[in-house]
Amino acid sequence: MLNLALVGFMGSGKSTVGKQLAEELDLIYVDTDALVEAKAGMPIPEIFAKQGEAAFRELEREVVLELCRETHLVMATGGGAFINPSVREALLRSSLVAYLDAPFETLWERIRGDAGRPLLSGEGAYDRARALYQSRLPIYRTAHVTVDASRPADEVVRELLEVYHAHRRQAQPRLG
Ligand code: S3P
Repeated sequence: MLNLALVGFMGSGKSTVGKQLAEELDLIYVDTDALVEAKAGMPIPEIFAKQGEAAFRELEREVVLELCRETHLVMATGGGAFINPSVREALLRSSLVAYLDAPFETLWERIRGDAGRPLLSGEGAYDRARALYQSRLPIYRTAHVTVDASRPADEVVRELLEVYHAHRRQAQPRLG
């Protein structure tokens, strides 16, 4: 079965939606942030603090490229993963990629003050996060499909189930 990869900014609901989708589709749920943490042997804020963002990005790239060789996965990707060109290319080739789209203010309300996300720490976090969001938008939009993720997770899941099934029907038309 074709992988389904969820991309989008922090707070767009990739993990919540991904877990539900994996259950509904009987696929395996994977969270790239969790795999990066397992590989590094430390939580993400510690990777950023001790080794820097570039080291985090390299681990993230390795993790996603490995996953792209598998099938039957629902992947919740870290918000920056899809921004890396080689990661993006591998995801678009191996998976149906869905962008969970929501306005910045909606996302900010969900993520503000989260100590588990190093990009949101320190002075001026709001402005930095907003600029990051704006710069990433055109890249997120290169996903195969975009869904409105400002709605409750259940609704996003329902739409993505339809999208996934429609895509499979298109890819494997029934004979007769
Ligand atoms: C990041 C998003 C985080 C995590 C890391 C960096 C980003 O994942 O990978 O803190 O660059 O947007 P979530 O999108 O799951 O919060």
